[in-house]
Amino acid sequence: MGKLIAGNWKMFKGPTETLEFFDGFEAPEGVEVVLCPPFVSLEAAVGEEWPIYAQNVHWATDGAFTGEISAAMLVELGVQGTLVGHSERRLYFGESDETVRLRAEAALAAGLGVIACVGETEAEREAGDTDAVLRRQVAVLPQHEQLVIAYEPVWAIGTGKTATPELAQEAHALIKSLHDTRVLYGGSVKPENAAELLTQPDVDGALVGGASLDAASFSSLCQIAASLS
Ligand code: PGA
Repeated sequence: MGKLIAGNWKMFKGPTETLEFFDGFEAPEGVEVVLCPPFVSLEAAVGEEWPIYAQNVHWATDGAFTGEISAAMLVELGVQGTLVGHSERRLYFGESDETVRLRAEAALAAGLGVIACVGETEAEREAGDTDAVLRRQVAVLPQHEQLVIAYEPVWAIGTGKTATPELAQEAHALIKSLHDTRVLYGGSVKPENAAELLTQPDVDGALVGGASLDAASFSSLCQIAASLS
């Protein structure tokens, strides 16, 4: 199976910029590509040729949950999956292991793919708690062929600090010993460091933030990934 390269646009790109991105984006055969635009840009993005994932989903089918979006609504739009448990959700919006579990289960039940994010903070790593944190976060994730885990050390997200390939490999091996799934690496992945990360034996792809916003750099990341498969 080829590497999976997912672009997480976070709160960037409305519908107009979304369409501009697709005008300039190309990926070769041999790499699986997913893009995760903000909710309001999903409709524009699903008209393109690539699988589109949301960045979050609520667990209820519908109800009085102001500001939330259900899995059925995403399915109706033609969205194929969703991220859950991104560290920015955990850090700024009160996401817990329990709500990550609820979101993942609801998405899978609706037929969506899931990329579930896990990862330790800098303080947790320095305290020697990386193993325990990953075990706790992975334990709530359902075993399902449509669920992929993204290991994103929080201290490496948007900071330019990438985990060394050895650190990434170590964490991925632990996650795979706990959960039978593909594991993506995330945290400052860019064309310059992609090959050394993606050639680690347990790194099955990447979840890319900043470097997915530019069509040329995301195209080149996809090209690198395809050349390694
Ligand atoms: P980054 O973000 O590539 O900008 O570090 C990764 C992510 O948060 O998914």
